[in-house]
Amino acid sequence: MDSARPHERPTAFDRMLTPVHRWIWKNSDRRVQKLFRFGETETDGGRDILRAAEITSDPLLRRLYLEHAIDEFRHGVLFRHRAAELLKVSLSGSNNGFQGDWLTPGGHGLDDLQVDGESDSDMLAFLHLSEKAAASRFTVYRDVMKHDPPTRAIFEEILHDETFHMNYTLTQLTRVEPTRHKHHLWRARFSRLWKTYLRLATGLAGILGSILLTIQYFVLLLPFAWLAKRAARRERSGWTMVSPGQSNSLDRQY
Ligand SMILES: [Fe+2]
Ligand SMILES: [Fe+2]
Repeated sequence: MDSARPHERPTAFDRMLTPVHRWIWKNSDRRVQKLFRFGETETDGGRDILRAAEITSDPLLRRLYLEHAIDEFRHGVLFRHRAAELLKVSLSGSNNGFQGDWLTPGGHGLDDLQVDGESDSDMLAFLHLSEKAAASRFTVYRDVMKHDPPTRAIFEEILHDETFHMNYTLTQLTRVEPTRHKHHLWRARFSRLWKTYLRLATGLAGILGSILLTIQYFVLLLPFAWLAKRAARRERSGWTMVSPGQSNSLDRQY
């Protein structure tokens, strides 16, 4: 698909995270993991948009959704192929280190898509914001990928499609809801904001949980170990005589 407008500029938040993105993408193992995950997200998103094409009663939207789904499937294939190429040349195999997914999710945001039960206008508003977020992130990813020209070229190519998706969904939303399209956009924005909060909170909870468990390990385990050793030292070794008053237990269970 051709883009109707120039590429979207990255948001201030994505620009601010550029050093983090650069650090994450610099490591080839992390790059492979992320590209595989992006491939999955794009393919899943394509499947959901295909479902949207099935259930919409608007013929123009059906055609656009079908073309959109084909684009997303192709993005998935591009990401997976590139990840496989990188994996072949990777010497150390896979490494499950820090991926920062809660900070920089699968690029697209289409993984949050709920197709069934959504109206065309809600679907278009959600898709527009997801594609806008994808265009913003992929711009940053392309810019930090100077050290890997083939991967950079893939981001450049996909960015072209995401910009088209971002534009056609807004145009169609305005056609379907000429007066209330802004209302639908705000509703979708709040929904995305809430999901972003949940993702960040889950990520932070994971980090805080790890820190607290590490502190507990070193702070609580040492005194317990010391108390256990002291109790063990006080124990007499070998058999211990029982006083006669306590030895009449043979005629009952306890
Ligand atoms: Fe895509
Ligand atoms: Fe897209």
